[in-house]
Amino acid sequence: MDPALVARLTSGEGAGLLASLPPYDESQALSLGLRLRTAGFDDELVAAALTQSRLRARGGAKFGADANRLLFTADGLEQATRPQIAATHADRFVAAGLRTVHDLGCGIGSDAMAFAAAGLTVCAVDADPGTAAIAAANLRPWPSASVSTQTAESVRLPRGGSAHGVGAWLDPARRTTGIADITGRTRRTFGLDELAPSWEFVQEVGHQLPGAGAKLSPAFPHAKVPMGAEAQWTSYRGEVLECAIWFGALATHAGRSAQVITPRGTYRLTDAACEGRIPTAARLEDLRGHLYEADRAVVRAGLTEVLVRAVDGLELAMGSGYVTSPHEFALPWARRYAVTEAMPFNVKAIRAWLRDHDVGRVTLKKRGVTTDEVAFRRQLRLSGSREATVLLTRVNTAQVALILTPSPH
Ligand SMILES: C[S@@+](CC[C@H](N)C(=O)[O-])C[C@H]1O[C@@H](n2cnc3c(N)ncnc32)[C@H](O)[C@@H]1O
Repeated sequence: MDPALVARLTSGEGAGLLASLPPYDESQALSLGLRLRTAGFDDELVAAALTQSRLRARGGAKFGADANRLLFTADGLEQATRPQIAATHADRFVAAGLRTVHDLGCGIGSDAMAFAAAGLTVCAVDADPGTAAIAAANLRPWPSASVSTQTAESVRLPRGGSAHGVGAWLDPARRTTGIADITGRTRRTFGLDELAPSWEFVQEVGHQLPGAGAKLSPAFPHAKVPMGAEAQWTSYRGEVLECAIWFGALATHAGRSAQVITPRGTYRLTDAACEGRIPTAARLEDLRGHLYEADRAVVRAGLTEVLVRAVDGLELAMGSGYVTSPHEFALPWARRYAVTEAMPFNVKAIRAWLRDHDVGRVTLKKRGVTTDEVAFRRQLRLSGSREATVLLTRVNTAQVALILTPSPH
């Protein structure tokens, strides 16, 4: 968005217009636009205000009621860090004793707002003038935050003694500009060589300042974790949203870690006690009463061994993240199921079991098995009145079907 238009939306007539809009309703947008133009507002301002109204409605899913005071671009909203995760980024800077953070590519400013709210002095830049103007508007409540239009690479970061207490945050754009998909949005990329600012720049900054952090894709390869840095995979309500690389004072554990954010709390695990050997089940008979499903962040971080040790169990197959154990534990970062039945993967046998147990509705889970879910469901010909959870997976190399009963949290 043109910075001049951002300025119009945040002052005088434009701000008044935006504040006066009713909750966004797609079916009313055209007639509302017409009414506003008839009332004397110019086309450009009306279009910009209605776009913000639509983005605020969409932004509610991420920012809650705060969306109604923020400005967005479509890409900026999509790329913005969830406030609950941004708060954990800010906590790291505070815990490490850093007082100033350079946000080098701040987008619409979600991370920057969390830093400012945590009491840090924020020096944010974005290469895109409209995005920087939006971030500046969003950061207005925090006088300790400043935003300028600048590339990350052109920021003069302090060195040596003068860098005391200073850290940096980078959330490189993961899109290839110019390549739009059918929705008109630019395509997401996950290659480390397609980040802007570049992965090399991220590492340079990471080694220059007392502390730095970078938000990267959950697909970040384990082999690329820089020496002495911490790679932390974070899930929010079960979905893995990022792998953050922490350098210097911000790395609390050199190696891999997982952060699991749930409505009940935030849980952190590291590979500190991992030996790289995970006992796996050999046969179906090795299934032992309970099945644990590690949170996806734990699996992505390669920490299933922590779960295996916690429950004294066996992983069903290497890399599956499913662990069987005779012991019952309540772990906030793993789902527990009672194994009601275990059988080789055979559609006729599964259908017979479900029919005999009056099962009419199935929650189907599958991992490590390539069955077409729709065709499989059709083949089950369900007609009963009860519910069951069916997991199609592997024990060692054999495909199996497990009937599970989820344990209450
Ligand atoms: C993923 S977004 C940042 C999102 C932000 N952390 C948030 O939570 O709202 C990345 C931003 O980096 C900016 N960017 C890309 N390359 C840049 C560069 N070389 N210097 C500065 N900003 C850059 C893009 O314009 C984009 O707004």
